[in-house]
Amino acid sequence: MSTMNVLLIGGGGREHALAWAVKKSPQIGTLFLAPGNPGMKNLGELVSIDTSNHEEVLEFIEENNVELTIVGPEKPLVEGLVDYLEDHDKKAFGPSEAAAQLEGSKSFAKEIMKKYDIPTAGFRSYEREEWSEAQKFVESTNVFPLVLKADGLAAGKGVFVCKNRDEAQKALEYLQNDPALSAASYRLVIEEFMEGEEVSVFAICDGEESKILAWAQDHKRIGEGDTGLNTGGMGAYSPAPILDADGVRNIHQTIIQPVIDGMASEGIPYKGVLYCGLMMTSEGPKVVEFNCRFGDPECQVMLPALKTDIIDVMVAAANGKLGHINIEVSSDYYTCIVLASEGYPGAYEKGKKITGTSDLPEDILLFHCGTTENESGELLTNGGRVLNVVAGGKTLRGSVEKAYQAVDKIHFDGMYFRRDIAKKGLTKTGA
Ligand code: GLY
Repeated sequence: MSTMNVLLIGGGGREHALAWAVKKSPQIGTLFLAPGNPGMKNLGELVSIDTSNHEEVLEFIEENNVELTIVGPEKPLVEGLVDYLEDHDKKAFGPSEAAAQLEGSKSFAKEIMKKYDIPTAGFRSYEREEWSEAQKFVESTNVFPLVLKADGLAAGKGVFVCKNRDEAQKALEYLQNDPALSAASYRLVIEEFMEGEEVSVFAICDGEESKILAWAQDHKRIGEGDTGLNTGGMGAYSPAPILDADGVRNIHQTIIQPVIDGMASEGIPYKGVLYCGLMMTSEGPKVVEFNCRFGDPECQVMLPALKTDIIDVMVAAANGKLGHINIEVSSDYYTCIVLASEGYPGAYEKGKKITGTSDLPEDILLFHCGTTENESGELLTNGGRVLNVVAGGKTLRGSVEKAYQAVDKIHFDGMYFRRDIAKKGLTKTGA
């Protein structure tokens, strides 16, 4: 079998899981990881490229005979890296800049949903110069809670659930004046609040067709019982028992494929992974948000179950030939516990020595997200989210127990993790 060189962009836990899955493919020649992280160094060659500099990426691809580029994070997608590479006849997995607006612009996504009858919360959107109208709306409405969202990418910091008028006014002020949010707040979306439990469904798309990959539940809040500040995600499990196969089929038919069809009719075919964040309301599933990439840490619990060669899936999606691929997944459950630095998602210290990572059982997957190595090769903390411990099992409970047993072997000063990952799922299955 001939092999191909692959470039994977990104360096978090999601990309570590992607690199692990890609490396299992017999089709891989050299896997280049830009920038990757210390946990990924046995999977490929870590390279330093400025991925916002499209010419530099192209030059690297040409010099190293890269045949497929996989883009992990949303930023290079929203910046149009895939368009640039495709314009230069290079294959890339991920949506175009225009299609990535499903994540990059909340108002764009809402307008698509409205036009194609996709169930979601009612909304209104305001250009920057119309914010006095938004202010008037907040002053006059009697419907709370209300959700205020910055339109653009805001690294999870642009969404405010406001229980009353006072909170909504403060959020509006914050969105208007916070320097870190101003780039994302060129437009504002105000939405109805949806009550229910959240679940995320992931599909692979080729511009016309979509196929379900998996579904998972994340834990976005820092504290047990879903309390405290929002984070990038403190743990995930898949499949989430809140949905059965019929429920997922229904979501595919009524939400995911209609979005892909709608985008195609708009002349913006969507290729890559579609992350569909849903609220299971009393009226049925409704879209909370779309993202244009794998979830982090959801990716870490979905890819271990994938039996089909991920390279076949990605190449078929990039080539518009998903119909030729059968996506097979195992029936096992996977659970991921995120180990974080004390203080995260606020300020935290770095440089704490990490021990115990070489004492883990062979069937535990350890993905790095915020680590570095010192000159003596010791592993140190280097981020808010530090490590992802992933375990599989025939039952959800089995995977959860195995993951926590592995967590107990790891230590660093200030190590924080939630002890209730998958609790909601366990309540539903009992197993
Ligand atoms: N885990 C949430 C996200 O990836 O956006």
